[in-house]
Parts: sequence; C-alpha cells; structure tokens
Amino acid sequence: MEKTAQLDIAGNLYSLPIVEGTEDDKALDITRLRNDTGYITLDPGYGNTGACISSITYIDGDRGILRYRGIDIAELCERSTFMEVCYLLIYGELPTAEEFAKFKDQVLFHSLIHEDMKSFFTSYPGHAHPMAILSAMVCSLSVYHPQLMEAMQPATERDETIARLLSKVRVLAAFAYKRSVGEAFVYSRPELDYLSNFLHMMFTTPMRSYQPDPVIRKALDVLFMIHADHEQNCSTSTVRMVGSSKANLFAAISAGICALWGEWHGGANQAVIEMLEAIQRDGSNHRKYIDKAKDKNDPFRLMGFGHRVYKNYDPRASIIKKYCDEVLNHLGINDPALEIAKGLEEAALTDEYFIERKLYPNVDFYSGIMYRAMSIPTNMFTVMFALGRLPGWIAHWKEMIEEPAMKIARPRQVYTGPTQRPYVPLAQRSAK
Ligand code: ACO
Repeated sequence: MEKTAQLDIAGNLYSLPIVEGTEDDKALDITRLRNDTGYITLDPGYGNTGACISSITYIDGDRGILRYRGIDIAELCERSTFMEVCYLLIYGELPTAEEFAKFKDQVLFHSLIHEDMKSFFTSYPGHAHPMAILSAMVCSLSVYHPQLMEAMQPATERDETIARLLSKVRVLAAFAYKRSVGEAFVYSRPELDYLSNFLHMMFTTPMRSYQPDPVIRKALDVLFMIHADHEQNCSTSTVRMVGSSKANLFAAISAGICALWGEWHGGANQAVIEMLEAIQRDGSNHRKYIDKAKDKNDPFRLMGFGHRVYKNYDPRASIIKKYCDEVLNHLGINDPALEIAKGLEEAALTDEYFIERKLYPNVDFYSGIMYRAMSIPTNMFTVMFALGRLPGWIAHWKEMIEEPAMKIARPRQVYTGPTQRPYVPLAQRSAK
C-alpha cells in the first residue's frame, strides 16, 4: 500500500504520497500541492527540497558518508582512478576492460581544440581570472560543434559529446593557465594518460619537458575523484536548471562553472589559502581568527569550514588531509600554511561555537595547500575543482535529460512587493 502523510490546512485534510529512497531517504511528494490546495512550500536555500530523484551519489551528512553509485569514496580513492570514476558516475557501472578502453580512446581522440580558439585566450587581459576564461571557453565550444548543440541527441552521439567535453575542458584549463603566466600553449601528448597529459600541458615549457611524478599524479587522481560528484550542490543544481530548458551540454556546464566560482562553494579553496596567508602575515595567531569567526558583528567566516549537508567530519577532508601530508613530505616542503590550518582545525574542533553548529573542515580546507605544493597558482584552484567536478555535472545532466518526464525547472515565490497601484507621471512625483 502506498504510504502517505496527511496535511491539515485550516481543517481540510490532504494526502501527500511518501517517496522512499534505497538508503532510507524519505520525501513528501508535493507535485500536486499547488493544484490541490493553492499553497506552495517556502524553502529559501532549498535545504529541505528534493528537486529530483537520482541514483548517482549518496551522502549521509550526519554519518559522514559519501558513495558514488553505491561505492564508498575512500575505497574508490584507494583502488580506482579518476577516469574509471568518470565512467562509473556517467554510465552507472564500473566499466569492463573493453568498455574502459573504448571510453579512454574516445576521450584521447578529442584532446585538441579548434586552432581558432587560441586567439580567444590571447584576447583576455593577462590578469583575467581563469574561471572566467574557462566558463566562456566551454560555452564557446558549442560554436565549433553546432552539430552537438541538440540536447536530445541519439545515445551514441551523446557519448561522443561527453568524451569531447571531458577531454577538451582539460585543454582549456591548461591553456587558461598558460595565458595567465604568459607562456606558450602546449599541445597534448597522445601517449600520456588523462591526468599526466593535463600536467604536461600545464607545466611543459620550451625549456623543460614535464616529467610525471607518480606521487603527485596519484594525489591529483585522488583530489579529482573526491571532487567528482556531490549530488545536488549549487553548481550541479545550476547545470540541471540550465539543462532543463534543453540548452546544450556546453551551455549547462559553463553555467555550472560560474556557480562553482563563488567563495561559499568551490571558490572556497582559493579563499582558504588567502585566509591562511592573511593569518600568517598577521603573526600566525589563529586564535584571533577563531574569535573573529565567532563574532556575529564581524563578517569574517572561517573559510573551508562548515557545510550545508555534512554535520560531521567531511569524509573528503580526512582523505585530502592524509594526501596533503604525503605530498608535502615527498616534495620536502614545509608550508607554514599547513601548520596554521592544523592549528585552526584543532582549536575549532574543541570550541563550543563550532561544536554546537556542527562545523567541521570541508573538502576545501586542505586542498589548496596541496595544489600550492604541486605548483598550481592560487587562482587556478577552483579551475582544478571544476575539472574534477565535470563528470558529476555530466552524469546529472544525462540522468535528467534521459528522464521521460523531464520538466523545465521553474520554482515559485511568495510575492511581498506592493499590491496594484497606478503609474504616476514624472512631473507629478514629489521629491522624497
Ligand atoms: N565560520 C563561522 N561560522 C560559520 C561558518 C564558518 N565557516 N559556517 C557557518 N557558520 C555559522 C553561521 O554563522 C550560522 O551561525 P548562527 O546559527 O549563529 O546564525 C551557522 O553556522 C549555520 O550556518 P549557515 O550559514 O546557516 O549554514 P549553511 O548551510 O547555509 O552554509 C556554508 C554552508 C555556505 C558552506 C557555510 O558553512 C560557509 O560559508 N562556510 C565557509 C565557506 C566554505 O568553506 N564553503 C565551501 C563549502 S564546500 C563546497 O561547496 C565545495
């Protein structure tokens, strides 16, 4: 028998179907609420709103659990690779050897961008933020592949579009970096794997050929796997929102990149390093900044702390912290920012303010220190996040457009502006 909940509005009873997920998620289905009752729900920030049914990623924020298609993130980071995770997220299963070879070939095949696009990069000022360049360039890809602009392509063509995007975004990111440091663009080398190729396009110069370092490569693989999906976060919901109008995949991903940029979302990794540097310049007194974060008259927030969903240690932060120590040791780097970060974490985890509000380090708290150790400049941190998040965005877009009952996203509102009033001509408006 269908489970229902009863809603009582001024004595009138309405029955709302209950929807249950495979991991005991429970939702009230309010699809017919407005039609049946005239009411809508109000949920600023969507903290209680399920916008879709999804089988991609499961998070239990209270218990610190994150799984992609049922597989725990820690197990994936230990045993899998970013490329395999891309396939898992997008197609729902781990690939067979044959499927994986075909997928990697498809991605490899598209690792060049149209030569004309190079002129776009040089038209940006040298100090342009690479996130602005990346989002514009991803949208511009649609100009060069008009045949792929249809959202509703046959499955084989859609697979081609997906491979193209996965491959080219990494080239665009590397070129945006080269532009920002004033170096010549470096083309991909087909014999290298996905991530080594990206590092080669970033760090090879006419003077020095980049030599892949297995410790760095593994750490980057882990960082990208950790970033690969996080269900209905701000940027993924943006991709779904834009894609729901049947805008093409490039346009939807470009919008997701913009959403990720903000410092309350993916931009936090840049904000964390800037905060740690500011604390260092100010005498490394982390206690002072804990007090600032607690002071309600001070707008300062501890960047890299807190999460809408995790009310326990973010499982991604503990994995990153371990690799962060490993990378810094391997490279022989003694970064004072790491000591400040550990001091902040220790102080916050024993402080009543943070305990009460269940504020823990999130994925961005240690990732910047690791990127910095890998010689990635601060303004590229969020670009790195975007590269990692790409398969998640694609998986959600694909899941949505393959849904037969897909609907355009269009929330409602409660209007609180003036009620109807007449227009007053300019000459009759009195000065205030
Ligand atoms: N430092 C100090 N206080 C904080 C912090 C913080 N980082 N985060 C939340 N709080 C406080 C709030 O002031 C609020 O206090 P109050 O109850 O006394 O008013 C309480 O904790 C709840 O905070 P909300 O803002 O309601 O939590 P919300 O779920 O809306 O915000 C967010 C989550 C945006 C991530 C927030 O914790 C934050 O701004 N963190 C810093 C930015 C950051 O690290 N973002 C990256 C998140 S991970 C990602 O997107 C990849």
